Amino acid sequence: MYLEDFSPGYGKLAPRAVLASDAPRLDLNGDWAFRFSPIGLGEPDGFPCPDFDDEQWDRLAVPSHWQLHGYGKPAYLNIPYPIPIDPPFVPDENQTGDYRRVFELPEEWGDTPAVLRFEGVDSCARVWLNGVELGVTRGSRLSTEFDATKALCPGRNVLAVRVHQYSSGTYLEDQDTWRLSGIFRDVALLARPVGGIQDVFVHADYSDGGGRVRFDVAADGPVEVGIPLLGVEAAAATQTFVFDRVRPWSAEDPFLYEAVIATPSERVRVRFGFRTVEINGDGVLTVNGRRIVLRGVNRHEFDPDHGRAVSLELMRRDVELMKQHNVNAVRTSHYPPHPAFLDICDELGLWVVLECDLETHGFEQPRPELWTGNPSDDPRWRAAYLDRIQRTVERDKNHPSVIIWSLGNEAGDGDNLKAMADWIHERDPSRPVHYEADRLARYVDVYGEMYRTPAVVRRIGQGALRPGELFYPLTEGAGDPADDRRNRMPFILTEFAHAMGNGPGGLAEYMRLCEEFPRVQGGFVWEWIDQGLRTTDAQGSEYFAYGGDFGEELHDANYICDGLMFPDRTPSPGMLEYQKVNEPVVIEPGRPGHVTIRNRYAFLDLSHLRFTHSQGELAVPPAGPGERVEVPVPDGVTIQAELAESTAWAPKGHVVAWGQLPPAAPAPAVLAEARRAARQSAEHVHLGPARFDRRTGSLVGLGDRPLHGPRLALWRAPTDNDRSWGQGDAEYWKARGLDRLLHRTVSIEAGDAGLTVVVRSSAANSGCGYLSTYRWDSDGERLRLRVHAEPVGYWPERRFSFDEEMVDHNLPEEEREELLRRHRAPSLARIGLVWHLPEEWSRVRWFGAGPGEAYPDSRQAARIDHFHATVDELQTPYVRPQDNGTRADVRWAEITDPAGTGIRIEGEPLFSLAARRWSDRQLAAARHQSDLVPEPLIYLHTDHVVHGVGSGAVGPGVLPRYRLDVRAADFAFILSATS
Ligand code: GAL
Repeated sequence: MYLEDFSPGYGKLAPRAVLASDAPRLDLNGDWAFRFSPIGLGEPDGFPCPDFDDEQWDRLAVPSHWQLHGYGKPAYLNIPYPIPIDPPFVPDENQTGDYRRVFELPEEWGDTPAVLRFEGVDSCARVWLNGVELGVTRGSRLSTEFDATKALCPGRNVLAVRVHQYSSGTYLEDQDTWRLSGIFRDVALLARPVGGIQDVFVHADYSDGGGRVRFDVAADGPVEVGIPLLGVEAAAATQTFVFDRVRPWSAEDPFLYEAVIATPSERVRVRFGFRTVEINGDGVLTVNGRRIVLRGVNRHEFDPDHGRAVSLELMRRDVELMKQHNVNAVRTSHYPPHPAFLDICDELGLWVVLECDLETHGFEQPRPELWTGNPSDDPRWRAAYLDRIQRTVERDKNHPSVIIWSLGNEAGDGDNLKAMADWIHERDPSRPVHYEADRLARYVDVYGEMYRTPAVVRRIGQGALRPGELFYPLTEGAGDPADDRRNRMPFILTEFAHAMGNGPGGLAEYMRLCEEFPRVQGGFVWEWIDQGLRTTDAQGSEYFAYGGDFGEELHDANYICDGLMFPDRTPSPGMLEYQKVNEPVVIEPGRPGHVTIRNRYAFLDLSHLRFTHSQGELAVPPAGPGERVEVPVPDGVTIQAELAESTAWAPKGHVVAWGQLPPAAPAPAVLAEARRAARQSAEHVHLGPARFDRRTGSLVGLGDRPLHGPRLALWRAPTDNDRSWGQGDAEYWKARGLDRLLHRTVSIEAGDAGLTVVVRSSAANSGCGYLSTYRWDSDGERLRLRVHAEPVGYWPERRFSFDEEMVDHNLPEEEREELLRRHRAPSLARIGLVWHLPEEWSRVRWFGAGPGEAYPDSRQAARIDHFHATVDELQTPYVRPQDNGTRADVRWAEITDPAGTGIRIEGEPLFSLAARRWSDRQLAAARHQSDLVPEPLIYLHTDHVVHGVGSGAVGPGVLPRYRLDVRAADFAFILSATS
């Protein structure tokens, strides 16, 4: 059957660029007649005929996905295929959507030839015009044109399309995302005037201030070119135009020229930029002769209400948000985006790695041998592979923003991939080819890997990758020549820093390596946005759905929510961290009373920025790329670099970078010399302003302020990254019962010096735990608590398959062993105290790091200052609820009701703080934000230390230096009532 052969379809025209033409165009988006069938239908029942009666059919918007309009349901899968692995066949349970659209052909079109253009249909479409079959297309995110000339008629025309959820193309589209079907991008009828312009390929280079441009135009007859900005008018298109001075294009200064290309019957406008992409003799990727660093994100197309049917506004919003957050690059994972997205990248300036619509990841699953039957190495699929790359390159070849072609994602290795690369090298030698899984570096120009640790990236930077040290060593003999080749290639992290839930940690470590090693040229965080679909539960509360929420039998849960942006495009703390570590200008403390300002742009000087601080403006010389200057500043100020003028992506005043000469933390309060004695009554122990339960020794009140606690806390509601494919720290903590500690009061001693309470905390059936000594004293006004906590019992080692990954193999044996030992050491989520406060105490003021959350390995975006927030504002709404909201390096905090009544807590040393209206266990049990129900109290955490967040959901866990070991701890707090 036509949907189950290896071919890329039939009847399609040769692919070409998207051209802004003056030839008429008929927009066919809008409401189409629609008939849904849950099963695969074969030959049509006559619905393509113009006189077929579709009165009884439904209406469905084009573009859209039918699963988001009540036909079938969305399904989320990462690696597994949604169909049996039985290529090229698909099951009978294959939803079918029949579409019909009636349109009037404007009279002035006459008998002009025309093509029907589909920008994206998932997964396969068979197309008829007025009952005449035009062909079949596969390649869901690739555009297709059919010649409509012969079938078109004057007046009323009927376009009919049969779309299938699955086809042979499904085997090549196993991308990790929602599986959604339908005509989800634009449809249009384009007039193609006789003697018009079929295609244009602009070749524009830049060197030493000058530029060259050549236009390969496919047209019948003579073609003229004009480039108004360069004084070119009606010149013959066959020549190469050379200019002594042009303004080059870069992501930092995206200057575009426009060419008008004309034949007597058609005129098209092409925007282009002068820029040259090169890999230099040292294996460094350069643009216009300068080394660039890709501070990028992987972007799936996503709208929380419309899936991959994204509006122009949303595309622009994405690019603006990227630019505003110091993201300078995007990998279009794992398919070409809507073509308009690239226009915006050209215009606002992003480096684009343009990826083909290809992934066969499901073939990796355990079989006799990994990747058995992979289409990538099966000649029967060759034509489909070539068709896909040709449609990718031909459509997008004129975008200056596109600097690298990527063959696809996770499609194993094989000769079909090599054939794709060979074709690109022939057709467009001006851009390097990337494909992460070319393990032997046989056909790529850029070396890409995913989720390697900073230690491994360092080794790559040093050119010291050891033979065979590959993530998936696929072929014996991997090593020598391939390593040699790789060591001469630019290295990019195709994906890194898995941004699922709370995290990623360690971004600063990665980006620092780009400053140390010229060939380490950045990469792409996985991923841009949480793909949670906006949904409403039975109670009418809105939440963002993930895998399993639509009753899927097979799904990958919340691995679909692993972006830097929340589904509604508010930035997560991970985004703010990435924004901070990617600042194009680094503002750091310099000599006493000075800051150093380092220009990290590759092309721009600092003249487009204004430097300010709380006391005024700072005069900063316009340092050029790579230069640094030192300027005097008053102590304790925060310096900001802001846009001096509005740009296409942010208003004047937008802060691109900041730095701080941090104010010194105030010293903690001290108790007055005279100590109060502890007194016992029938039920309580009294000490200064405090009352304790006589049996358990826990605090029940401070003056007239009711507060309860503290309890030792060693656990947190596991983050996605704590869970690390089911073998991470979260599982270790669970096995030790840290989430269900029971407490035994060992002793209570009340005396002249105060109150000493010893408590043993451990879980049912557990042999390990903590013994804590709480020493309370008071000067009558303030209450001091000194805690000594130490592990007791047997804490087994923690074993994790990434252990070996975490350490640098080139280290001397002992050092390496030591690192491994560190990594396997028993871990904790936190060592701290949890208190219960009245629910009215919903205001928090603190001095410390803020305003947002910060964890040991995700701490760059926080500054030191005074902050305030409500308890509700302290929560970060990760799509799947998990630990969040920790404020770091706190010296003191006040937690009060709106009138200011509450307590003040000062810490020595500095502590971390979190406050919420539910317990950690409730937080851990919730599947969605809408499951969180406030309790009539506030849980306040004051932590001495917390574990980092890492990126372990898919990549490396918490780096050794940010791990929290099971160890003894000593810390103190001073409590007082606020006035
Ligand atoms: C990568 C893959 C991505 C995504 C990520 C995990 O292996 O290329 O598409 O699945 O893992 O979220």
